[in-house]
Amino acid sequence: MTLEQRFVTEPPVSEPDRQHFYIARAGEYVREESNRLGRVLSATITTFGCQMNARDSEKLAGILRQIGFVDEPDEEKADFVIFNTCTVRENANMRVYGRLGQLNHIKRKQPHKMIALCGCMMQEPEVVEKLQKSYRFVDLIFGTHNIYKFAELFVKCKEAGRMTVDVWDEADKIVEELPNERKYPFKSGVNIMFGCNNFCSYCIVPYVRGRERSRNPRDILHEIERLVGDGVVEVMLLGQNVNSYGKTLDVPMSFAELLREVEKIEGLRRIRFMTSHPKDLSDDLIAVMADSKKICPHLHLPIQSGSTRILQKMNRRYTKEQYLDLVKRLRDAIPDISLTTDIIVGFPGETEEDFLETMDVVEKVRYDSAFTFQYSKRSKTPAAMMENQVEAAVVKDRFDRLLARVQEISAQACGRYEGKIKDVLVETVNDHDQSLVTGRMDNNLLVHFPGNETLVGKIVPVKLEECKGFYYMGNQES
Ligand code: 5AD
Ligand code: SF4
Repeated sequence: MTLEQRFVTEPPVSEPDRQHFYIARAGEYVREESNRLGRVLSATITTFGCQMNARDSEKLAGILRQIGFVDEPDEEKADFVIFNTCTVRENANMRVYGRLGQLNHIKRKQPHKMIALCGCMMQEPEVVEKLQKSYRFVDLIFGTHNIYKFAELFVKCKEAGRMTVDVWDEADKIVEELPNERKYPFKSGVNIMFGCNNFCSYCIVPYVRGRERSRNPRDILHEIERLVGDGVVEVMLLGQNVNSYGKTLDVPMSFAELLREVEKIEGLRRIRFMTSHPKDLSDDLIAVMADSKKICPHLHLPIQSGSTRILQKMNRRYTKEQYLDLVKRLRDAIPDISLTTDIIVGFPGETEEDFLETMDVVEKVRYDSAFTFQYSKRSKTPAAMMENQVEAAVVKDRFDRLLARVQEISAQACGRYEGKIKDVLVETVNDHDQSLVTGRMDNNLLVHFPGNETLVGKIVPVKLEECKGFYYMGNQES
């Protein structure tokens, strides 16, 4: 196809063909601009938020690469700057506005610079309104449901020559077989489902990521097989609530059943997944984890609060006792399992007694690590309308007490492997000391030990000599 033919041909209606058409067309724009400037064009993506966003950014990076952009991490130098945003807590939004302010200064000096915003924050109409009013220098805005149309939107924006906004309320389909570019050659996230149906009362995710949709197991297994063929040894299966995987499929399949299939893939060494909702964690899943040679003995099991009264207001649908019982069943079946969690302090109506219930769970479970958050009021959520919002100073005080205890316990918990030999997947040469490499054990703990770049991507046995609080120093065993 010549350039002229490509420009007059109608885009195909079906996906992914339509996007491949637009990738080619976007490539022509990039080549033209490149010729004009006499240099290659560069782009950078800044990702805020969770693993799902990180995975979406890899998809954007894959499309950027095919269009012809090279990577330029420096926002000041890059011709195209993309922010993939998060809105789960208010401070994530504030950071985006702060960074946009800086970009505005840069764009004044470099008017050809293109700026795109996408991700969860764009699914909030008030945010888009504010951007349209006060941030006119942004070129392209799109949401979480049409990320697969990135190339098409890029072309639309170029042709319009002004701010282009396209945000959908709901997803129309799951589009497979689009390019993506992995951050690490040896490990990869794999989406197994999108969206969330749980409506925890504090959480904005169901409003910005839409209803729960599971990917077809065949597509997931093919993707993992392809990744393994390409050198990947570890996958992280991603979803807001992986334990309810498969419920909406034409032929329903449980998450435990999916894991059994993933386990069979030859050459795959490690399987991780996140996030698990305690209410949906089945005995079958515990059994699969206990039997598996590949599933890492690590579970991220957000508790959010230890008070049954608050859990009920949060719409979490489990009690403190049910959660503790689940932890007991997990530890009975998988004795050395590493447990991590998310905890929110200062949910509306939380009293000191409620908070002490949370502290009690922390004492009882002794998490390997815990992400602690101060409650953040998100518009549209039921909790935002609740009475008795807790005073900021009280939230801060509880947060500090919780964090101190969580850190003490995780330092002690981390130490329990001292002197043992563990398999470690080497990820990088150490940033600070080139004579060391850094890798992860199956329980996600970091280890630094003497080695060089030839070890990157390999799984090797390492003697854990000394625990340094949250990581180990070790030596490779021969
Ligand atoms: N305020 C504070 N933390 C929140 N999270 C989700 N919504 C809020 C909110 N409104 C936390 C939860 C969740 C994690 C990803 O973010 O702990 O598990
Ligand atoms: Fe938010 Fe709850 Fe869904 Fe997690 S399970 S994404 S906290 S609504």
